[in-house]
Amino acid sequence: MAEPNQTVTDYSFTRFANLDFYRQVNARLLDLADVGKNQRIIDLGCGTGAVTRLMLERLTSARQTVIYAIDHSAAAIRQAITELGDRKAAMVKFVQAEVENLRTAVREQVDSIVYCNSIHYVPDKGKLLDEVRDSLRPGGTLAFNTTFFDGSNPPESEAFYRRWMMRSLRILSKEYGLRPTRTDKTEARRQLSAEGYAALLNEHGFGVKKAEVVLVEFPLEGYIDISTFKDFIEGTLPGVPLDRGSAALQRGARQAFEDLKISFVPRNWLNVVAIRAA
Ligand SMILES: C[S@@+](CC[C@H](N)C(=O)[O-])C[C@H]1O[C@@H](n2cnc3c(N)ncnc32)[C@H](O)[C@@H]1O
Repeated sequence: MAEPNQTVTDYSFTRFANLDFYRQVNARLLDLADVGKNQRIIDLGCGTGAVTRLMLERLTSARQTVIYAIDHSAAAIRQAITELGDRKAAMVKFVQAEVENLRTAVREQVDSIVYCNSIHYVPDKGKLLDEVRDSLRPGGTLAFNTTFFDGSNPPESEAFYRRWMMRSLRILSKEYGLRPTRTDKTEARRQLSAEGYAALLNEHGFGVKKAEVVLVEFPLEGYIDISTFKDFIEGTLPGVPLDRGSAALQRGARQAFEDLKISFVPRNWLNVVAIRAA
């Protein structure tokens, strides 16, 4: 029997961010970058604080540590503050700002900048890397990951995405009489390959220390929960009201899993750790 859709009121990233597999993906990046030994850290695009929490778990010398947690969404920051509670919250300074204005948002240079699952949103990645470089001390570390890069979808996953969209669009049209509108955002969302990121980092004053592509088994609940996130719904079904878009995407995902008789979809995650040149 089909399970009911997740009902949501805030369309935040929290539900997805708390999935086990997602926590593991981010924990791996933090460990690759060895963030636990740092004292001044930026959690860039912190969202509702899932990665901030993972950082707090890894910090060894809590006394002099500060984490600047930055996001442009006031709602996400409010939720992060609530979810972190008093868990070492004194060490976390939340700043509402665009990542493109990092230098003015944080006025000191830090040891490490961690940027989880957000770099693909930024149209001008070169300008962003300039901001990041100037916000890091020489020798400081930038660590980022993304599953929206040129190479993230293995060929064997394409049937799922076609089926998911076909099912979701059919539900949207038949049950709600809706269809997405066209947008001019395609250019901004152009994705770089792993090699493209490495070249860009070199051009902007970084040396790549580690770069890896990890194959992840993306479960149905991941597709259900990402379908409750405002940015994802708006990007996938532009112009569609959030409640209907979310319902159509959730049901479409369930149907696609059933149609194809699969229990997960393979998906590549890119992890990069880069060092600011002196
Ligand atoms: C997919 S969520 C990732 C949140 C968190 N890093 C995690 O992995 O749990 C992306 C976050 O980036 C934020 N974001 C997107 N574009 C941004 C920008 N230009 N400036 C600041 N924040 C931005 C969104 O508000 C959202 O909270």
